[in-house]
Amino acid sequence: MAETMNEESMNKKGMNKEIVNKENVQANLIEEDSVDIAQLRTPIKVDLSAVYDFLGARTTQEWVEAAIANLPLIIQDHANCEKKAAGTAMNLLFRYEFSYDLQRKLAQLIREEMLHYEQVLGIMHERGQEWEYLSAGRYAKGMLKHKRTYEPAAMVDVLIIGAFIEARSCERFAALAEVIDDERLAKYYRYLLKSESRHFEDYLALAQSLSEDNIDERVAFFKAVEAELIASPDTELRFHSGAPA
Ligand SMILES: [Fe+2]
Ligand SMILES: [Fe+2]
Repeated sequence: MAETMNEESMNKKGMNKEIVNKENVQANLIEEDSVDIAQLRTPIKVDLSAVYDFLGARTTQEWVEAAIANLPLIIQDHANCEKKAAGTAMNLLFRYEFSYDLQRKLAQLIREEMLHYEQVLGIMHERGQEWEYLSAGRYAKGMLKHKRTYEPAAMVDVLIIGAFIEARSCERFAALAEVIDDERLAKYYRYLLKSESRHFEDYLALAQSLSEDNIDERVAFFKAVEAELIASPDTELRFHSGAPA
């Protein structure tokens, strides 16, 4: 009898646990995966020290001011960046099928970048902002032109470049969130810090784990290239553009 009761109460406990877990999963889905940015849970503080250490230059006040003065352009270019991030990851997913780790991380990344794309599209729609033609800036091209052409070096370089793009996005969202007048948008940029800083770390860890050699030298090389693209004058204002010329 005692055993049966124990079993029963254990079963009940188990069931309760299951219900609680299901509720948690659903709550997470609502808060973290919602296309409606009003539903999102924004972390109080995300430690960006690794992002700042990784980057060779900080965004200037001039870029932040130009971005705020041209917010519709920055929002659309941000949407474009999310779409491109998913596209790049999808290309990697098809090209490098041998690594479970790579496939798993890329699949997650594509899902998250497409969600961000949908969220930013929603922001544009809410603001009554039409999609306009916008040429690609020099930033990604400026790094990709240094990509080695043989494998696995080409793959390692693309992953390192991916880490820089993600880290820079993170740094710029934090810079914009600090000064932006629109609290809803500022909150959304703060929400992005968590995933974009994880994307930076994922890309970097994948680059190291899939390389036979230590990648420090290659990271230092792209750190200098990226910092130059951010610090030197740039005639086109974009989400990842250089100093406003
Ligand atoms: Fe993203
Ligand atoms: Fe990302």
